[in-house]
Amino acid sequence: MSGLNRARQTVAAALAAAAAATTAMLGATTAVAAPRPIVGGTTTTTTAYPFMMQITDASGNQFCGGTLVSAKKVVTAAHCMAGETTGSVRVVGGRTYLNGTNGTVSKVTRIWVNPDYTDASNGDDVAVLTLSSSMPYTTASYVSSSQTGVYAAGTTARIVGWGTTSESGNSSNQLRTATVPIVSDSSCRSSYGSDYVQSDMVCAGYTSGGVDTCQGDSGGPLLIGGVLAGITSWGNGCAEAGYPGVYTRLTTFSSLVTAQVNS
Ligand code: ARG
Repeated sequence: MSGLNRARQTVAAALAAAAAATTAMLGATTAVAAPRPIVGGTTTTTTAYPFMMQITDASGNQFCGGTLVSAKKVVTAAHCMAGETTGSVRVVGGRTYLNGTNGTVSKVTRIWVNPDYTDASNGDDVAVLTLSSSMPYTTASYVSSSQTGVYAAGTTARIVGWGTTSESGNSSNQLRTATVPIVSDSSCRSSYGSDYVQSDMVCAGYTSGGVDTCQGDSGGPLLIGGVLAGITSWGNGCAEAGYPGVYTRLTTFSSLVTAQVNS
């Protein structure tokens, strides 16, 4: 996953360098892509997004996002759970700031990773965590398997997370959110070729880039009409022109998630 990101980043860096050279007048000897604000939108709070969970290690360091879909169930990305055990992760709700100490911390009693998952670039990037204690926060509803129409190209979707605010930058201490348009399957296929698995993924972002999820946002929600419709999964770098963010197409996994939520 990060290997894929890195490989593509090299190509992207070359393209960015070429673009910078074309734009010229910069006179710089080293072409460095300008920092692009991720989740380029605005700061927000867990009061505004009460179902937005931090997934942390046992020491409280956030590394992924998750969405509370019932008092004890959190939807996240399978790739976030690579190498993790129930003892190594915690879920934190009601905490807007990474350096906060407020909110509710829960241990995890079970980690369900989609059994078909191998790598984010192959799809199947969904996991459900079962919490040991209930989260006293409003849950998000998620798409049903029949709601495939929500991904119409151009539809406005909302992304939320604490991830890095530029491609190789730092995480945001405060929760951030932005809106991005859903990208058509054909367009996403042109960006990513066979790594774009249409049945399992959906892309969102502007053609010109500039607004995107980034490292640390994974596992968090892509909301359409306020309903959980995608999970932050992967991308070529972050906010690069021509390379939208790739999200798990939740309609495909909705029944699997429901089975876990009800288990
Ligand atoms: N894989 C990243 C994570 O684990 C998320 C990357 C999203 N990238 C993007 N360009 N939208 O946090």
